[in-house]
Amino acid sequence: MATTKELKKKSGANAELSTEELLRLESEYCSWGDTVHYAEKPQIFERCEGAFLYDNEDRPYLDLQMWYSAANFGYNNKRLAGALKKQIDALPQLACQYLHKEKIELAAKISQANEERFQEKGRVHFNVGGSQAVEDSLKLVRNATHRNLVFAFQGGYHGRTLGATSITSSYRYRRRFGHFSDRAQFVPYPYCFRCPYQKKYSDCGMYCVKQFEKQFETEYNGVWDPKAKESEFAAFYVECVQGTGGYVVPPKEYFPELKKVLDRHNVLLVDDEIQMGFYRTGKLWGIENFGVTPDIIVFGKAMTNGLNPLSGMWAKEKLINPKVWPAGMTHSTFSSNSLGTAVALEVMKMTEEENYGKKVTEKGKYFLDAIKGLQKKYKGYIGDVGGLGMALRIEVCEKDGYTPSREITDRMFQLGMEGNIQVGKKKYGLILDVGGYYKNVFTLAPSFDITKEEIALAIELLDQLFQKAIS
Ligand SMILES: Cc1ncc(COP(=O)(O)O)c(C=O)c1O
Repeated sequence: MATTKELKKKSGANAELSTEELLRLESEYCSWGDTVHYAEKPQIFERCEGAFLYDNEDRPYLDLQMWYSAANFGYNNKRLAGALKKQIDALPQLACQYLHKEKIELAAKISQANEERFQEKGRVHFNVGGSQAVEDSLKLVRNATHRNLVFAFQGGYHGRTLGATSITSSYRYRRRFGHFSDRAQFVPYPYCFRCPYQKKYSDCGMYCVKQFEKQFETEYNGVWDPKAKESEFAAFYVECVQGTGGYVVPPKEYFPELKKVLDRHNVLLVDDEIQMGFYRTGKLWGIENFGVTPDIIVFGKAMTNGLNPLSGMWAKEKLINPKVWPAGMTHSTFSSNSLGTAVALEVMKMTEEENYGKKVTEKGKYFLDAIKGLQKKYKGYIGDVGGLGMALRIEVCEKDGYTPSREITDRMFQLGMEGNIQVGKKKYGLILDVGGYYKNVFTLAPSFDITKEEIALAIELLDQLFQKAIS
């Protein structure tokens, strides 16, 4: 295998490496462990703008996933990039033990936004990535309750650090890494299209919540000591719309009913908004759609539109005030970095000035209606569609409309990545992300600034992919 040096020598000292040469180097020098490596020949991109990624031939790939919902406000968003550039010139680096105004203003804005929404005073604690914020929240829960076990959902995803992996349902992510003594107790998610209890929503009476509460009925169910009136489980980690699990939206009554059970048993509600936060569902936090107040909210991703990473958690004052949660409870060199906080502050200002709630809700509905047209055309093959705001789902099935089809899904994903879909005189690619319990759901998280013309293009591209994949 040639080294970079040898490859450059071969084609001239300043020569650009070809795609083939880059892929050869990648296969030798990049760890495959830090990403997914779904495609046999991973695509290399050179630039991005709006809702598109571009390869080295400047071919556009319409992105319907926007970096797993981290770039909600569009690639290369001028206002947010401007905030970053301004901060690079002013205060690009600062150790987190010192203060800068963007951190303080950002924490105040998020806390005040939550005070308005939930009538709860609280504080914000920063970190860098989503999983790290999840780790911090686990420490916060342990510190507040002196208990370390939690509930989480089947199909839930909370990240890949050791703590986050222990509350993520897939055993696949734990299998190679020994014993996880704090592995969460995984509870069925209200996934009505494939109800884990084979009920029908129209007359189920929230059977799933009742089943959950049954665990607290006697001491023999293993989670509750009726004499001490104490649960062995400190918190329930939820995604109000399941992300990696396939953009599954629960029925309206689910979370209010669940919260009553948690309150009755003194179990905290931790709301993981890392994927759904920052208006993906048409609200700052997805949980607002369901009218319950969480005790802790964890967020990241679109907080900086995917520019300099930043994450954090908000918690109720009683859990996070400095008396109970003093200095140094967690620490990361880059936690409240000045670049990330500057961009996140601009995101907060931008979403206060423009009505993202209205924009995302209307555009999401428009997009979903167009997807429903596709569902009619590909009757059966699209078993279920749905969504909340601009978190949309297409569940791909066999012709019977129910049996999950990973095969058709994979074929469409692969064809989209190849970038050879002809529309008019131009060739396009389509960036899709696959989620769902059976890896048969396209989880669509388009740019909030996607235009109606681009939505029409998305439908045309999906249409062609369906046609090719089922024939
Ligand atoms: C709901 C949820 N929680 C946690 C994470 C982990 O965040 P990160 O990948 O930034 O560590 C993700 C990432 O996809 C997520 O979707």
